[in-house]
Amino acid sequence: MRHDVVGIVTGAAGGIGSAVALRLAGAGARLLITDLDEGGLGRVAGARAARSGNLIPMAGDMLDPDLAPRLVDKALGEFGQITALVNCSGWLKDHRVQEMPVDTFRRLVDINLVGPLRLLDAVVPHMKSAGYGRIISVASRAWLGTFGSSGYSTAKGGLVGATRSLALRFAPHGITVNCVAPGFIETPMTGSMPPHIVRRVIDSIPVGRAGTVDDGGALISFLVGEESGYITGQTILSCGGRSVSEPLTRSSEDKTK
Ligand SMILES: NC(=O)c1ccc[n+]([C@@H]2O[C@H](COP(=O)([O-])OP(=O)(O)OC[C@H]3O[C@@H](n4cnc5c(N)ncnc54)[C@H](O)[C@@H]3O)[C@@H](O)[C@H]2O)c1
Repeated sequence: MRHDVVGIVTGAAGGIGSAVALRLAGAGARLLITDLDEGGLGRVAGARAARSGNLIPMAGDMLDPDLAPRLVDKALGEFGQITALVNCSGWLKDHRVQEMPVDTFRRLVDINLVGPLRLLDAVVPHMKSAGYGRIISVASRAWLGTFGSSGYSTAKGGLVGATRSLALRFAPHGITVNCVAPGFIETPMTGSMPPHIVRRVIDSIPVGRAGTVDDGGALISFLVGEESGYITGQTILSCGGRSVSEPLTRSSEDKTK
């Protein structure tokens, strides 16, 4: 049986989220796209790469507990069902853990972990009744451990753990749950990194280049598709081989800390 791709993409005004939404919409998916950035969402929904009307924007804050039910109601009203959820929104704030204000730590966990899980919880009953679903969350290679990003790593590691547990729970219902863990991808999120750090990071990537939003978009689109049905509970690293080559020891930029 062929299932239409209809669902929700969060963080869809961002680098990876917009690439995923446009790639899927270009292949015929109908999606509710959401983000804090209302102007950015409008530009994505109106982009030429999206087939007319395939992307419906609805701005919202992942910190708002009412957002998940509102998104699900809207998606069901528009499409009648939800077969896909892509959790792409995210927020990065570097702090050594001893120096991190507890509010910042909570915000990192709320945006990167609690918000995506709330939305997952809201879509699952509808996927269960359809006996089919694809849930993909964007974690990060930082989940493996990274200096200076302990709050972000904690939140993204939580997504990895939740994905493994929920995959077991929902597999009997035809729902797969997976994570992708990008390494360094050139997007607005990484745009503010100092150039000398960017150079060092790129030098440490075995394939010899930064990742692009299309690297992330292609992998997520595959996982959204029906062909990925034998993959669940996995976290797939998309980092140009850096997770293999770089030992998790003190990185040179942090030797002074
Ligand atoms: N770029 C990288 O190198 C990289 C590496 C690993 C993981 N990631 C993850 O990939 C995902 C996409 O990131 P990106 O690189 O495209 O960055 P991005 O900053 O371009 O996109 C993130 C989007 O999330 C939205 N967002 C942030 N806080 C929000 C909130 N409270 N409510 C709703 N939306 C909110 C932002 O407005 C933005 O559009 C994120 O989850 C990020 O953590 C990125």
